[in-house]
Amino acid sequence: MNGAWWRDAVIYQVYIRSFADGSGDGVGDLAGIRAKLPYLAGLGVDALWITPWYPSPMTDGGYDVADYRDIDPVFGTLADAEALLREAHRHGLRIIVDIVPNHTSDRHPWFQAALAAGPGSPERERYVFRDEPNDWRSVFGGSAWSRAGDGQWYLHLFDATQPDLNWDDPRVREEFLDILRFWLDRGVDGFRIDVAHGMVKDPALPDLGVDHEGLVEPPDRGDHPHWDRPGVHEIFRSWRELARHYGDDRIFVAEAWVDSPRRLARYVRPDELHTAFNFDFLRCPWDAGRMRSVIDSSVEALGAAPATWVLSNHDVKRHVTRYGGGLPRARAALLLMLALPGGAYLYQGEELGLEEVEDLPEEVLRDPKWERSGHTQRGRDGCRVPLPWSGAAPPFGFSTGTPWLPQPARWSAKTVSAQDADPRSTLNLYREALRIRKENPAFGDGALSWLDSPPEVLAFRREPGVVCVVNLGEEPAALPPHRKVLLASGEPGDELPPDAAVWLAV
Ligand code: GLC
Repeated sequence: MNGAWWRDAVIYQVYIRSFADGSGDGVGDLAGIRAKLPYLAGLGVDALWITPWYPSPMTDGGYDVADYRDIDPVFGTLADAEALLREAHRHGLRIIVDIVPNHTSDRHPWFQAALAAGPGSPERERYVFRDEPNDWRSVFGGSAWSRAGDGQWYLHLFDATQPDLNWDDPRVREEFLDILRFWLDRGVDGFRIDVAHGMVKDPALPDLGVDHEGLVEPPDRGDHPHWDRPGVHEIFRSWRELARHYGDDRIFVAEAWVDSPRRLARYVRPDELHTAFNFDFLRCPWDAGRMRSVIDSSVEALGAAPATWVLSNHDVKRHVTRYGGGLPRARAALLLMLALPGGAYLYQGEELGLEEVEDLPEEVLRDPKWERSGHTQRGRDGCRVPLPWSGAAPPFGFSTGTPWLPQPARWSAKTVSAQDADPRSTLNLYREALRIRKENPAFGDGALSWLDSPPEVLAFRREPGVVCVVNLGEEPAALPPHRKVLLASGEPGDELPPDAAVWLAV
């Protein structure tokens, strides 16, 4: 494994609650992940990003952390996590853990101490307490302020159970450096930084003057009082410095929702984070012109840092559904993404071609967005439904108990075992694509050059000798001259049908 593994890595996101359940309680866990390591290694990914596994009241699926140095009993024990790290490494898989530094759970001992100690105490200084709230809004809906028993208000950009930390307090900075060390010492290969763009606030806490409810990014302004503040970069420089002591193959990836690739590039300057999710690509509709400009602006703005590409995650509608074109578009999008320069993130279940589950009954919805929006937004549960592994009916081998969210009966055709032996299944397309990408030096890090093509078609060349063509239009497209077809998202032929992609050897 060479030092710059992360520049072109394919990293598989494990949403732990929904991946595989080893204990039979209906919630995914570490035992489940350990049992599926051969599956993941066989898929051909380089690393796993595991969503938060820490002790948590789980009001936001674990993004409400009560103790950053342990494992929630529903997922296993610290010893299980250590065993998982060792076994994953034996399978050639690296492990990236999720770190949640913007806020803690309200059950975290620091917040409990802050509540107990009262106004003006040093304990309250670690959070953002004020006598009067301002007009900031929660990403999940409603005010970003809730009241403590004694009348003071505390800030929470997310749920009321997720109080924001005060990163101007040196104790907060020290604590997180120590938490990073704790996990680095246990052998993790990196961290995904939750809400990296939200950690620093304008200490004056000025009113926004406009209603930004539900927005996780700064809408077109450079001086937003809580998103993408310049002060976050100093924190990340100190984190990079720390990681360097462990050798430069331990990495950070930022979750930073910002308003342009140029702003994103600031997070991946040479002395800051290694990579950042490219959400512009994820949010781009199925449109050739817009895709091309997002690809160009991303690659160009990042400079020396590699781009990362992502189609789905646990916060957005699955792309089979989002692009509106069903499986053919999703399969074509995969070949597009994996042919682009840089690294890529896969979200569990996309290799099975899973769609968003849009018909979950209201009584099972768990996302805090559902309650906080006054039942106007269903939230993100539809992309978090437990994976179907085998069998003809729920729980499809996910668990021996009842899955925490119900799985649709139609997934019987989408289980891993149903797709395993079918060479044309989406699962085998992913395996093939990842194998070819790994074996062929043209893919991954490096440059891309566009080829002439009709406006609804994307065609580009990677060196040496690979061309990717994606048809986002409604007419079949001609293929450029080639030696052979390396891989096709649909039936390969003389022309490329709409909603299809091919990799060609030229
Ligand atoms: C990030 C996570 C999301 C979570 C939020 C608050 O956006 O990806 O799932 O709800 O942060 O921690």
